[in-house]
Amino acid sequence: MASNKVLMFNGALGTMFRRRVFSLGNALPDQQARWPGAALKWPESDRRMLNRLDPQQLPAHVAVIMDGNGRWARQRGFMDRIRGHEAGIEAVRETTRTAAELGLQVLTLYAFSKENWSRPDKEVQALMTLLAHFLVAERDELMGNNIRLRMIGRHDDLPDKARDKLQESMELTSGNSGMVLNLALSYGSRDEITRVTRDIARMTREGQIDLSEISSETIDGLLDTAGLPDPDLLIRTSGEMRISNFLLWQIAYAEIHVTPVLWPDFRRTRFLEALIEYQGRDRRFGRI
Ligand code: FPP
Repeated sequence: MASNKVLMFNGALGTMFRRRVFSLGNALPDQQARWPGAALKWPESDRRMLNRLDPQQLPAHVAVIMDGNGRWARQRGFMDRIRGHEAGIEAVRETTRTAAELGLQVLTLYAFSKENWSRPDKEVQALMTLLAHFLVAERDELMGNNIRLRMIGRHDDLPDKARDKLQESMELTSGNSGMVLNLALSYGSRDEITRVTRDIARMTREGQIDLSEISSETIDGLLDTAGLPDPDLLIRTSGEMRISNFLLWQIAYAEIHVTPVLWPDFRRTRFLEALIEYQGRDRRFGRI
């Protein structure tokens, strides 16, 4: 996909735009031909990292466990953990923009787990308010970057305002053809798999599917992530070595990158580091 974009960029926009990029003095030699225009406007240190990345070998789908907001707030002496969540929004924005600029197909962000409902009411309410605000504030950004918003998890669990804003933003962006930003909201992987199991049991009982026809693809098609490629890369911030009930089925062959960086400090450079590490991995999918 990235290569298609590069071809389109080279073909459709042609020399005029390439000259403009040159005249900005931004692009390093040979990068114009390899990367979409937006990435060429990054600061030089990040553009240098592009030289270590192969646009043809980018992960199609990156999933992120955004962890460490509370610790970030505490380390800065804030009494309120919510300050960490607020700071985390900027990391969400920059990571989303970077992923779209690189031409990834899907970015899934674990924004609120089913288990997170058991946090103190004040924190849950603050997170839902932040979510509703984010869903409106980012509309221009989503449209400007041709991003389609989607969600996984239990839509109906969300408070009315967050649910309505989510629905509106998903409808607004539904015609966009670029990256999918997939928010995991009130999401739990065991819950998702349990729902799929019930669906399959019902379909079997009603004669829509025979037991012998149930396959891995049947399950793929009933998961909340139906139609999306499985994550190639799972990133977890804050150094915790856990999966936390996230995409248990879908990450069967994902590469895992754990960084000690706390989520609010996870910016473009850290994302590029994760992608460079990913491209250094030998993915065998069980083969030798
Ligand atoms: C984990 O950090 C983070 C969360 C439970 C929520 C993630 C939310 C955001 C990044 C902001 C809102 C996102 C969107 C998309 C609007 P933690 O609170 O568990 O941190 P800790 O482990 O240091 O306590």
